[in-house]
Amino acid sequence: MSTVASGVVAGVPHAHGQWSGRLAFILAAAGSAVGLGNIWKFPYITGENGGGAFVLVYLGCIVLIGVPLLMTEVMLGRRSGQSPINTFATLAKREGRSRRWGALGWLHTLAAFLILSFYSVIAGWAVAYVPQAMSGAFAGADAAQVGALFDGLLGAPEQLLVWHTVFMLLTVLVAAGGVRAGLERAVKWLMPALLVLLLVMVAYGFTTGGFGAAAAFLFWPDFSKLSTAGVLTALGHAFFTLSLASATMVAYGSYLPKSVSIPRSALIIALMDTVVALLAGLAIFPIVFANGLEAGAGPGLVFQTLPLAFGQMPLGTLIGTLFFILLVFAAWTSSISLLESTVEWLEEKGFGRKAAAVTGGLAAWTVGLASLLSLNLWAGVHPLGMFETFADKTVFDLLDYVTANLMMPLAGLLTAVFAGWVLSRRVSEAELGAGVGYRLWRFLVRFVAPVGVVLIFVYNLG
Ligand code: TRP
Repeated sequence: MSTVASGVVAGVPHAHGQWSGRLAFILAAAGSAVGLGNIWKFPYITGENGGGAFVLVYLGCIVLIGVPLLMTEVMLGRRSGQSPINTFATLAKREGRSRRWGALGWLHTLAAFLILSFYSVIAGWAVAYVPQAMSGAFAGADAAQVGALFDGLLGAPEQLLVWHTVFMLLTVLVAAGGVRAGLERAVKWLMPALLVLLLVMVAYGFTTGGFGAAAAFLFWPDFSKLSTAGVLTALGHAFFTLSLASATMVAYGSYLPKSVSIPRSALIIALMDTVVALLAGLAIFPIVFANGLEAGAGPGLVFQTLPLAFGQMPLGTLIGTLFFILLVFAAWTSSISLLESTVEWLEEKGFGRKAAAVTGGLAAWTVGLASLLSLNLWAGVHPLGMFETFADKTVFDLLDYVTANLMMPLAGLLTAVFAGWVLSRRVSEAELGAGVGYRLWRFLVRFVAPVGVVLIFVYNLG
């Protein structure tokens, strides 16, 4: 209860509770940012796009677009002190602008909700792989056997259902505890644990003999290997990995005490996210190169390529188990953030914290069933099959496409426009602090971010 009663800041009552301080906020936001995107997706898209040059462009996108938008979202949340759904409507009203900006809050939250529905299914694979790795299922397996294991999992709806349910329960469990007793307490354990596990993996990478090749692959830019499509992939991933344009950072910002510096926190969060992605690369690619595996193996890199290596290396059962636990932890701190915007809004509708967490989680779990089934029983169902672009897309593919390629770019673009052009300078300056940094932020948010996002958008549609 004390969290609920605590602090009235700048005249805004915090009905939902607040982070205990800067560290708690940074860990929670970094926990949101660090997820499947860093450990599963970043290595494989880097592999597919030829390494160093892609990494360099990705870092540029983080700095020029990701960080300013991260500051923006946290700032908007803190300013309103409300759920993302109500944030945009409230701030627009205060500016004497159209209440229609409220739709942007819905767009953000709907994106988060839909992402959560299938994020939980993928995270379920990682959960499933923990007991697999532990039982020594990869030991001595060849590529065909490891592939069969993965296909077998995706082809078995009842198994997927178990793991999807387990993962969503973990998410709801934390969410139900509230901002401090739930979210904060979980991230304070999980984030350091994640870092330790990752460092163990990197240390292992050192011993494989593939470390030099991995470092060269990640850090030696060869621009002849980078395509235009690769540049845009880097831009899109900068968004996804920082949890932008989908309510998360707005919701987390709404719990942020006034005394905490947003620019400084955002820089630290982005730095942590980037360091983890690079460490994940330094953990995974030595194993890939030392075992003569294919860096450009695609989405199966973590679930098919790596188990192959775990099955052959000394201590493979232990390292493999640690790796998938790491993946689960990373996904967990992200999924609680994906649920938070829905929970916060339900609380504003009068739900208690626990009821809000259960209701939001149950709803996302239910929608997730459609993604789960489209991996097997509904694999042949193509709801938008009449359109050429969507001809062979399952429900899962469509949700992924609609959120990543349509909703997030649109929400990101409108959010930058809202903060840069609609919100008065007085407000953003009060939140971010005046100075050179502020002017740089304003320039990036008004011009660079919108142009960058329009580029991804147009490219992805084409
Ligand atoms: N950033 C997380 C990752 O890299 C995923 C995530 C969490 C996310 N919250 C989000 C992605 C909100 C988009 C929007 O895995």
